[in-house]
Amino acid sequence: YDDVIMLGIETSCDDTAAAVVRGNGDILSQVVSSQADLLSRYGGVAPKMAEEAHSLVIDQVVQRALDDAKLTGNDLSAVAVTIGPGLSLCLRVGVQKARRLAGVFNLPIVGVHHMEAHALVARLIERNLQFPFLALLISGGHNLLILAHKVGHYLQLGTTIDDAIGEAYDKTARWLGLDMRKGGGPALEELALEGDANSINFSIPMRQHKDCNFSYAGLKTQVRLAIESRKISMEHNPISLANLDDRRSRADIAASFQRVAVLHLEERCQRAIEWALKIEPSIKYLVVSGGVASNKYVRARLSHVVENSGLELVCPPPSLCTDNGVMVAWTGIEHFLLGRFDPPPPADEPEDAM
Ligand code: KG4
Ligand code: ZN
Repeated sequence: YDDVIMLGIETSCDDTAAAVVRGNGDILSQVVSSQADLLSRYGGVAPKMAEEAHSLVIDQVVQRALDDAKLTGNDLSAVAVTIGPGLSLCLRVGVQKARRLAGVFNLPIVGVHHMEAHALVARLIERNLQFPFLALLISGGHNLLILAHKVGHYLQLGTTIDDAIGEAYDKTARWLGLDMRKGGGPALEELALEGDANSINFSIPMRQHKDCNFSYAGLKTQVRLAIESRKISMEHNPISLANLDDRRSRADIAASFQRVAVLHLEERCQRAIEWALKIEPSIKYLVVSGGVASNKYVRARLSHVVENSGLELVCPPPSLCTDNGVMVAWTGIEHFLLGRFDPPPPADEPEDAM
């Protein structure tokens, strides 16, 4: 597989990312341009603005991925690009770039599912990771438990019935007035280290439902009420954050939220492992991936669950858990090697036909 060289392009949400990966798993380059700074000023992802931000940097990001790999389009075997799920305006920026490049260099295109990419990148990290395996995918927009049978064949064991855990982290961080420039999740994880995780007894979601689905909307409401009842200002204000009493009560909420948010994951994973072993007794791995999987507390808690069940945890390094081009390139390789790709587009394809 050494001679396969794949460019991966990812623009489904707020990161513009590209990477070049070799068929043997060597990462030749990896570039991410984040809009977190921009988003922190506007309070969330506005599709039109996110599209413009992607358009501004996409050419540079892809060029740098090729330059860093010391390659040109001529050296590539194919181009992989995320085609969904995500904001359609944003996805289009990546798809148009991929098609233009593939047209010029006469390269096949592999359309990649964003969540499949989060799961399959674990096979690049852990080369012993064979199908079938269980995967927990936790990001800003999705919460999924899937049994992966083979490339392209997944059984969904659970999904969220409302919000994803990343969304709950982001909202809680915003309501606690944290600095959103580094992203809500990381900011909350950091503050939670200072707090007492048992100070507030938020209730664990969906206990009465003996399934593998998730719900974070109710926990979000509980957090909001806790903040309001303590009369904590929701404005981002570095001075009030530096006030020790004030900071302490915010940290307590952060830590208590995190404890319960992750307990919900633990309970669902435990059940999913039981279910999965009944369906596929041969599974040996639980993959945990997606932006929230870069959280140290999440990793530590889930590694306990997995140890107790006799499976092994595979959690990609943080830079491959949050959105990135490597996972797209790698998933492109997995499909490409199975003959699943589209022929090169015409070199002079008009933009509106893409
Ligand atoms: O996979 P991802 O980068 O993009 C989506 O596909 O949504 O996940 C982004 C989500 C955001 O909600 C972000 O706050 C969360 O992952 N996240 C974290 C951490 N790093 C990123 N959540 C908790 N702790 C973290 N360290
Ligand atoms: Zn993602």
